[in-house]
Amino acid sequence: MTQGGEYRVDHSCHRLDGQVAVVTGAASGIGAASARRLASEGATVIVADVVDRGGAEVVKTIVDAGGQAVPFHCDVAEAADWEALRQLVTGRWNRLDILHSNAFYEVRAPVDVLDEADWDRQIAVSLKGSYLGVKALCQLLTTGDRPGSVVLTSSVHALMGLPGRPAYAAAKGALGALGRQLAIEYGPSLRVNMVLPGPILTPIWDFVDEQGRAASADETALKRLGRPEEVAAAVAFLCSADASYITGASLLVDGGWSIVKSGL
Ligand SMILES: NC(=O)c1ccc[n+]([C@@H]2O[C@H](COP(=O)([O-])OP(=O)(O)OC[C@H]3O[C@@H](n4cnc5c(N)ncnc54)[C@H](O)[C@@H]3O)[C@@H](O)[C@H]2O)c1
Repeated sequence: MTQGGEYRVDHSCHRLDGQVAVVTGAASGIGAASARRLASEGATVIVADVVDRGGAEVVKTIVDAGGQAVPFHCDVAEAADWEALRQLVTGRWNRLDILHSNAFYEVRAPVDVLDEADWDRQIAVSLKGSYLGVKALCQLLTTGDRPGSVVLTSSVHALMGLPGRPAYAAAKGALGALGRQLAIEYGPSLRVNMVLPGPILTPIWDFVDEQGRAASADETALKRLGRPEEVAAAVAFLCSADASYITGASLLVDGGWSIVKSGL
């Protein structure tokens, strides 16, 4: 799979044939890679995002590759959008196997500078969005012929402090607690797990120059930034029957970023 940083998806893997999946924040980065991976494993994927053009492009790449996907405009912070999504899924497939709750919104500033409205919006998208998604889709996820699966995209920031990201860290830390709560609340009909990405090369890295990227890569044990597809592979695993006895777990996908310490 990986050789000197090269990554290729094994397209012979069909663990999700016939399943239906919702991925949020799916127009870009990790969400887009997750949508493509789940579809390549046989799932029909609802590509949910606020950026309609990006969502349509992701759907096109999936359909062009022989998979099945539909775009859906969903602001994860809006209960009405989730209700519309629930109605679409119920009317069209009447089943839902997977929810990958992945959308986020970030404004970087320390607490004394961060506007209250920016705090609220970050928590609304990055934390409340997962609550609203599970609330809307829970019945569909728990009444299928096998346990449903929810994956929440958290972050290494759930475990470690980094300057300028108070709301982001609070939301990501809370997602771990929420996920564990959901796992015990809805088990055995639902498995709920978290992925905690480290530095993954997505558009949020566009503003970081080569030197900054190299410095972040150097902070990992694997000495490189991760690829969205490498997080998507972990998501697909957690959603598949290969993870049938895994729930309430937090899976780091960070190249060892969180275990590296410099010093003597
Ligand atoms: N890239 C990294 O280094 C990294 C590291 C740790 C965690 N993560 C997490 O991975 C997830 C994906 O990040 P990414 O790097 O792929 O970012 P990205 O910016 O490439 O993708 C985020 C997507 O979320 C969408 N989005 C924003 N607000 C939304 C809303 N209200 N409703 C629906 N969709 C919305 C955006 O339109 C975008 O398509 C996030 O939860 C992020 O916190 C990323």
